[in-house]
Amino acid sequence: MEKIKLNAFPTGGLHGTINVPGDKSISHRALMIGAISEGQTVINHFLWSQDCRSTLNALRQLGVVIEESATQVIVHGVGFGGFKAPEQPLDMGNSGTTTRLLMGLLVGTNFTSNLRGDGSLSKRPMNRVAVPLSKMGAEIETTKLGTLPAIIKGSKIHGIDIRLQVASAQVKSAVIFAALQADNPTTVIEKLPTRNHTELMLRKFGADLTTESDQKTINIKPSANLRGQVVNVPGDISSAAFFLVAAAIVPNSKVLLKNVSLNPTRTGILKVLERMEANFKVVYKENTDECYGDIEISTSNLTSIRITENDIPALIDELPLVALLAACAEGVSEIRGAAELRVKETDRIATVTQELGKLGVLITELSDGMIIHGRKNWKINTNELNSHGDHRIGMMLAVAALRTDQELYLNDAAAIAVSYPSFFADLKSLLRRS
Ligand code: S3P
Repeated sequence: MEKIKLNAFPTGGLHGTINVPGDKSISHRALMIGAISEGQTVINHFLWSQDCRSTLNALRQLGVVIEESATQVIVHGVGFGGFKAPEQPLDMGNSGTTTRLLMGLLVGTNFTSNLRGDGSLSKRPMNRVAVPLSKMGAEIETTKLGTLPAIIKGSKIHGIDIRLQVASAQVKSAVIFAALQADNPTTVIEKLPTRNHTELMLRKFGADLTTESDQKTINIKPSANLRGQVVNVPGDISSAAFFLVAAAIVPNSKVLLKNVSLNPTRTGILKVLERMEANFKVVYKENTDECYGDIEISTSNLTSIRITENDIPALIDELPLVALLAACAEGVSEIRGAAELRVKETDRIATVTQELGKLGVLITELSDGMIIHGRKNWKINTNELNSHGDHRIGMMLAVAALRTDQELYLNDAAAIAVSYPSFFADLKSLLRRS
């Protein structure tokens, strides 16, 4: 329960260049897809964070040899059917992505696996994955509440046509992983298009998988022979977003973020910044699989915004930051159709409302979102903020603190290591006092 003092208003603004760490979603997938492939997969710019460690350790427990160095990870693929029965329960830590994607891989094995997680993960819904997978023949037992711990008994998997009830890339990816091990093809139809890293990477590794023009329908043929590849992980736009917002809301700032993932299923935050009239420009770079490029942003006069359900998947993890942008904008903003926020690492509608409320932001909680009144100056009620054990809430509050000249403290700051262990070092490198 580490408590730290947050940086207050930097009078000279934020200046400089940041290479944010590797994308979390892509790092998880590179480990998993590398593991089920034949031969070696080399992952460059892998994200060393607690969540990705959870995936790496679980795969090691399943008998996959993984070499690590500061800049690279090498996965020695075991191919489908190559996993070994784990001797201990698999520890998912705080990671929803590890849990849900791994479920899709484990359903087709010939052994039983036990999955458990930390206090926060053990409250999160797992039936959204277990139910579609069980329609494919999987045997998954969760608690009465549909949460971890779970027991997965390997079984024969059948391909199906399935329409998913929640817009979730984790659920979609689990079904795709199961479909690769099925005895016939599968078609998945999403509620709304979600991040497509699994599809892009599987195609690169040789899977027979197509996405239809609606971007929501994915056809998967069983493929037993994926081949290891070199994966260059771009910077995580969900990590870059903290500095995009910091530079936009702190006076006298100009920041360059290099080599950031610009996959269109993830760039909702850029669309929001554009709609709020922020000053930024994006330079795309040549690529063969995942889009990436540089983003330069400077202090902006922001206008209010209305976010609706269709906007949500491409900025799901950035919504706490959108609330902060709105708190600094001119006028009243609204976020709707975002009930998914209630089942993240914390109930992010509740934690954002509570913590920004402490800073004097006028913010009202809705069942599926928030109404936020923008203000130039906030009237701080208390100097003790709390991440509630949620990495993205912790980092959003550290950025919010830059708008104030008060002494503010963040409780449970250690949670930030879940996705961005070097966050405070990177933030400090940008701060200028004049
Ligand atoms: C992720 C998908 C999203 C996102 C999470 C990572 C992924 O979750 O919030 O941080 O890597 O597939 P949902 O699938 O639950 O929306």
